[in-house]
Amino acid sequence: MTDFKLKINELREKKDFKILAHYYEESDIQDIADYVGDSLFLAQKGSELETNLVLLAGVTFMGESVKILSPDKTVLVPDMNAGCSLVDHSPYNKYLEWRRKYPEAICVTYVNSSAAVKTITDVACTSSNVEKVINSIPKDRQILFGPDINLGRYLEKKFKRDMILWPGSCQVHVQFSAQKLFELKAKHPGSIVIAHPECEENVLLASDVIGSTSALLKSTTDNMNVKTFIVATELGIFHQMKKLRPDATFIQAPVEDENCACNECPYMKMNTMEKIYNALVNETPKIELDDKTIQDANVCLDRMMKITNGESIEWPSRFEL
Ligand code: 13P
Ligand code: SF4
Repeated sequence: MTDFKLKINELREKKDFKILAHYYEESDIQDIADYVGDSLFLAQKGSELETNLVLLAGVTFMGESVKILSPDKTVLVPDMNAGCSLVDHSPYNKYLEWRRKYPEAICVTYVNSSAAVKTITDVACTSSNVEKVINSIPKDRQILFGPDINLGRYLEKKFKRDMILWPGSCQVHVQFSAQKLFELKAKHPGSIVIAHPECEENVLLASDVIGSTSALLKSTTDNMNVKTFIVATELGIFHQMKKLRPDATFIQAPVEDENCACNECPYMKMNTMEKIYNALVNETPKIELDDKTIQDANVCLDRMMKITNGESIEWPSRFEL
């Protein structure tokens, strides 16, 4: 069997590249990566890197974010079919129609969206910075939020702000069930439930901690007294959780069954060590976006980064297209 870990490390001697991996990737991919993180971290890190060749082991919208923020870089993705159900649920033409209905509103779009949709968005967000983004929008402005309806509902309740929500969802995070969480909690006294905000409302109501992948990871060390965590997000994150808390037990929701693949993102799992090696050797597949898309999509990502860094921004008074 070919040892792709060895081959990738040998390639490092000949080529200057960096590998970025999302927490939902397979453990061996996380271990070969130079950096592992959530979608905000990967976008930031990818654009800050000095090397011109970046491989993003995640889904394609994550590679697009790096390319939009850093157009001179070659951004490789191991498998171009690694999409995202939220991207599929928000086709450009339909999103534009919706956007046009509310020209005076501010459109906040989750980064789990296509580059085209970002061109008609006022500000992007991830689950790490969305609270800062919402708080930065003047109270008298209407908010459109898409494409994740569950994240949108969660924010509406948390900030007591009415939002017009786009009806998209993540096919993985809608698998979790509140009923099953109660059963697991009853079976494991002293456990806590940690959940990603892409889960449905009743699951979030049954959760003790709600946050982005990096926030959930942090919660495992913030709660050193807790020995059992019931995890309502993608399975890949267990790898870093176990590294951080070798003394703790991590139970996968929705069912405590290692053979159940229901909490695995099929898109993230399209990436393999072999595909990563081949992409680095051949410098393909790479993210290709035209200049106009990059320029227009950069506006919402740039606003998102400024808000994340505590800078103030100016909001457009209306949407015209
Ligand atoms: P994070 O931004 O929390 O990494 O989440 C990305 C994602 O796709 C969750 O399903
Ligand atoms: Fe998209 Fe869901 Fe996969 Fe995240 S877990 S990349 S939101 S399909």
